[in-house]
Amino acid sequence: MKLKTLALVGLASLILTACGGVDPNSPLGKRQALFKQMLKTSEDLGGMLRGRIAFDAPRFVTGAAELDQLSRQPWQHFPQVKEDGGSRAKDEVWQRQARFQELARALESSTAALVAVTSVAPLNSADLAPAVQRVEDSCKACHEAFRAF
Ligand code: HEC
Repeated sequence: MKLKTLALVGLASLILTACGGVDPNSPLGKRQALFKQMLKTSEDLGGMLRGRIAFDAPRFVTGAAELDQLSRQPWQHFPQVKEDGGSRAKDEVWQRQARFQELARALESSTAALVAVTSVAPLNSADLAPAVQRVEDSCKACHEAFRAF
């Protein structure tokens, strides 16, 4: 019985690996989920400014606060040593930690600045647009240096 269970567990993890599935409780699974949520939140903010979705001031304010919270979280889920397989992070993340952390702080200060702009009512798209642009530029700067594709 025990053996059979073990075999099943083994099989399940084989299937998971074969399908490229990532354990959602692993550090990799956790940081990828956070990054996906960051993308969704920032796309909504950009979409509201660019007219892709209707502008909704309360939703914008909430989204900015959420993005600011999210932007502080992925970094703790990068382990001391890179795990095998599944990650799109370049080896440079571990080789150039100081620069990586610097770009993480740059993102955090850009989301904090965005929150500051949303604390002034009424919201003014002339202020919001450059703040969102700065956040998007922060994502891009790090991906260019540290994400494989
Ligand atoms: C300091 C560096 C850094 C910053 C800043 C950064 N990212 Fe990333 N991002 C990464 C790395 C590294 C990966 C690859 C993670 C992995 O697979 O191990 C990644 C992966 C992702 C992924 C893919 C997740 C998956 O499912 O594989 C998305 C989406 C993403 N980032 C969105 C964003 C967005 C949106 C922002 C800005 C709001 C952002 N990132 C800011 C470094 C960064």
